[in-house]
Amino acid sequence: METRFGEVLARAQAAGRAVGAFTCYDLLGFEAVVRAAESRGAPVVVLVSPASFGAEGGERLVRAFGAAARCSSADVLVQLDHVRDGRLIERAADCGVDAVMADGSKLPFGENLAFTRTVVGSVRSRGVGVEAELGRVEGQEDEAGETLSGEATDAGEAGRFVGESGVDCLAVAVGNVHGHYSGAPKLDWRRLREIRGSSPVPLSLHGASGLPERDLRRAVSLRVAKFNVNTELRAAYFRRLGEELGAETAKLNLKGLGDGVVGAVQEVVEAKLSAFGWR
Ligand code: 13P
Repeated sequence: METRFGEVLARAQAAGRAVGAFTCYDLLGFEAVVRAAESRGAPVVVLVSPASFGAEGGERLVRAFGAAARCSSADVLVQLDHVRDGRLIERAADCGVDAVMADGSKLPFGENLAFTRTVVGSVRSRGVGVEAELGRVEGQEDEAGETLSGEATDAGEAGRFVGESGVDCLAVAVGNVHGHYSGAPKLDWRRLREIRGSSPVPLSLHGASGLPERDLRRAVSLRVAKFNVNTELRAAYFRRLGEELGAETAKLNLKGLGDGVVGAVQEVVEAKLSAFGWR
């Protein structure tokens, strides 16, 4: 069965573009991503971190994103990101997410494959797309910190993993990290090309914050079909909040404060979408 997630990635890839996936913690971030998607005519994935989803109110947040996504003229998908717990995955499927990222990257190859196959078996028939990770993209997902790159994805293993797991998309580790790069990022292009050659499904690159635009464009040209972005959005959110808090506090202008945040985050999302090929 084709999933909407798989179809959206495949369509973008066929057009020589990539889909931006952006972590949202609230409806301001969500609004910024959707406005950027509509303004660029781009499909987007709204990522929900497992910490957000697992917390009180997490299910309501995901259901709110799903309902609001259906009101957009753009293709807006919701994905539960980096989840290692099968029960959370089932709950996310019950909440109507379009995709989950089944993260077995800390497990040995065989256990990661078994875990991923179980997830594919349990949710894909319900139309929920599955992304997995092979190799390890290091770093924190909800907090910023300097990070060194983790264990790189092996091209031979990637081909076998994709063939045997039935995933829609594979996240690869080629020098990319979550959060701030420790020093200048240095992606392993040869490895990426080799993985590309051995994987029949779209590849995703996590940790797109902090990668220079030329690297993003080069990765798109090497047919990376999905980029995950979080840290740069949070940085823009906090920066604008800090700038406006003083003035708006005096007026207790919550609406004005929110508008400023949406605008600042939207600017970052649009710049990324442009690097992913959405003019
Ligand atoms: P960054 O925070 O480095 O952009 O990474 C986001 C990510 O990969 C979420 O899965």
